[in-house]
Amino acid sequence: MKQPVSLYIHFPYCRNKCPYCDFVSYCTPSFDIEQMLRGYRRDLSFFKDRMGDVSLSTIAFGGGTPSLMSVDQLKQVIDLVQEFFIIEDSAEVSIEVNPATVDYDTLAGYKAAGVNRLSMGLQSLWDTDLEFLGRIHNARQNREILEWAAELFPNRSADFMYALPHQTLQSWEQQLQQIVSLDLPHFSIYQLTVEEGTPFGNKYPIGVSHPFDEEMYQMTHRVLLEAGYEHYEISNFAKPGMRSNHNMVYWNGGQYIGIGPAAHSRVKFKDQWMACSGNDVVNTWETQEPECEKISVFDRAIELFMMGLRCCDGVTSNMLLSVTGLRFEDVIDLDFVQEQVQLNMLNFDGNVLTCTDQGRLYLNHILQSLFKY
Ligand SMILES: C[S@@+](CC[C@H](N)C(=O)[O-])C[C@H]1O[C@@H](n2cnc3c(N)ncnc32)[C@H](O)[C@@H]1O
Ligand code: SF4
Repeated sequence: MKQPVSLYIHFPYCRNKCPYCDFVSYCTPSFDIEQMLRGYRRDLSFFKDRMGDVSLSTIAFGGGTPSLMSVDQLKQVIDLVQEFFIIEDSAEVSIEVNPATVDYDTLAGYKAAGVNRLSMGLQSLWDTDLEFLGRIHNARQNREILEWAAELFPNRSADFMYALPHQTLQSWEQQLQQIVSLDLPHFSIYQLTVEEGTPFGNKYPIGVSHPFDEEMYQMTHRVLLEAGYEHYEISNFAKPGMRSNHNMVYWNGGQYIGIGPAAHSRVKFKDQWMACSGNDVVNTWETQEPECEKISVFDRAIELFMMGLRCCDGVTSNMLLSVTGLRFEDVIDLDFVQEQVQLNMLNFDGNVLTCTDQGRLYLNHILQSLFKY
């Protein structure tokens, strides 16, 4: 019996390009769903030919703005997926929604089509921040979608961004209290990253973080923990039992197929790990198969540590063995690990390696010396 895999469906269009965004997304007043369906079909068929009859335990529509799709269009994509793979009855099916693009009926339609988890791109509860971020929705629309989602989706999440240049510790704490009082089952809360090649990248220094970013991070951690959330990944908080199953597959080294422009996959063709990606230009993607290359078990193990150490559960010896067939001593420098344990950056008991709360702040630094190259 083959292990179930996850499916990510990238929808590359947005109504407007946010000035901080470096995702593969194109600003457009309209899109050609037939072209998208042709491309998705080709990608699905490519993976089906190489992986055979696998079932899907999670499906995530991301973007871009997949909520630009009408209910009918979304249904067409789900039907298409079912032509190739079995969707497990218990599968998590999620979609990222932009509050400016949906109304109650659309959300109800998505639910009827099989979506059971909503990820709302709210970004802030305050209009000043939303204007600064160039978002096409305002705080009133955020409140509206929150009400609809509460009625329709027990499994729902909202994305927020902080460490904005004008934000102070006090103003972030004030907003955090409002965020927590929404009492959602899940939050993704990201520090703003200024990316090269974006309008923000031309305006603000790249690689320079907010002067109080560490304090803001610690405050976010503390406030959410006090409110009963698990801080289960650097940017993710969940009430018990409400983690994102789809993202857990990325972080635990599971197999995922990505379809759509620029979508990445980590899959096994027979017993060989492969890294695949689609072309990021829609017209080229439509006619060009995903490009795949073999990935060694050692490189897959490195990915597992890079992702796993972001999570509170860390990397376990069982996880490492089942994903790569390797043991801790094959991949990481255990002397370095012991040093970091002494410095209260890592915890290690021989079976589980985790970052301490402090260590997570210095994760990039730790990763530079962790591996046996
Ligand atoms: C896959 S992205 C895009 C989701 C969706 N397109 C939207 O913008 O609502 C998921 C989240 O990453 C966060 N994000 C995107 N760009 C970011 C950046 N430059 N710095 C920090 N967070 C970012 C936002 O909170 C966003 O909702
Ligand atoms: S809506 Fe999301 S994907 Fe689209 S431009 Fe804004 S941040 Fe990027």
